[in-house]
Amino acid sequence: MNHPTFALEAAGVTVAYRSSPVLDELRIRVRPGEIYALLGGNGAGKSTTLNTFLGFTRPSAGTVRVCGIDVAADPRAARAQLAYVPENVALYEHLDAHENIEYFLRLAGTPPTPGAIETALDAVRLERAAWRRRLGGYSKGMRQKVAIALALARAVPVLLLDEPTSGLDPQASSEFNALLHTLRARGTAVFMVTHDLLGAAEVADRIGFLERGRIVHECAAHGAERFDVRDLYRRYAGTREAA
Ligand SMILES: Nc1ncnc2c1ncn2[C@@H]1O[C@H](COP(=O)(O)OP(=O)(O)OP(=O)(O)O)[C@@H](O)[C@H]1O
Ligand SMILES: [Mg+2]
Repeated sequence: MNHPTFALEAAGVTVAYRSSPVLDELRIRVRPGEIYALLGGNGAGKSTTLNTFLGFTRPSAGTVRVCGIDVAADPRAARAQLAYVPENVALYEHLDAHENIEYFLRLAGTPPTPGAIETALDAVRLERAAWRRRLGGYSKGMRQKVAIALALARAVPVLLLDEPTSGLDPQASSEFNALLHTLRARGTAVFMVTHDLLGAAEVADRIGFLERGRIVHECAAHGAERFDVRDLYRRYAGTREAA
């Protein structure tokens, strides 16, 4: 896997429970240093897409690669390249931020080097006064910062996020966007699943619209030119009506 072109790649991926396919020859490619937002209505197959990248769902056809590693051939090696932040971050409530990160790094067999956790917590801008407070008292935005700090400390090349901005207030959302841009500048690929069209248009480099397990439209922001949100909205509304 010498410098694979794509951080994430789904090629002709089909997943079916019973008869009808949930993912239907899905094709997605995300480059290192790219932020990709996958939009789609309820049941479109967004979580299933994440699960195939994570190796939790086995496609009946097609190939999934993470940094060039075939997920079906070597799921552990593929997963080692990924950090996954679910919608409701599952960390230990009775541990503080520092302890949580240390615990999960040790669990992964990669104990932290001195200062690595502090660097990661600073990078996500978690207020220092909170570092030694138990997560039980944290807001959703703060928990998400800890989960992303863990991803930073692991130095993984790919970050997967499920509905990252749902339940965040505008300030937390904008801090979150800034954080994704920091990750992008480091060359991390970010793949996020979301219902938030405006948020996606603000932060993403590329947006894909998923409908019944297929990408029905994909568009990219070129340089300083951002997305035409009204056009995106029409497409989004269109795909949702069709779903
Ligand atoms: N384990 C499973 N067994 C059977 N059907 C499943 C399973 N997991 C998902 N599905 C079906 O696959 C389809 C896509 O589900 P998925 O969870 O990927 O959608 P989603 O886009 O994430 O939706 P949401 O916006 O509600 O989170 C749905 O019709 C769902 O009922
Ligand atoms: Mg889902």
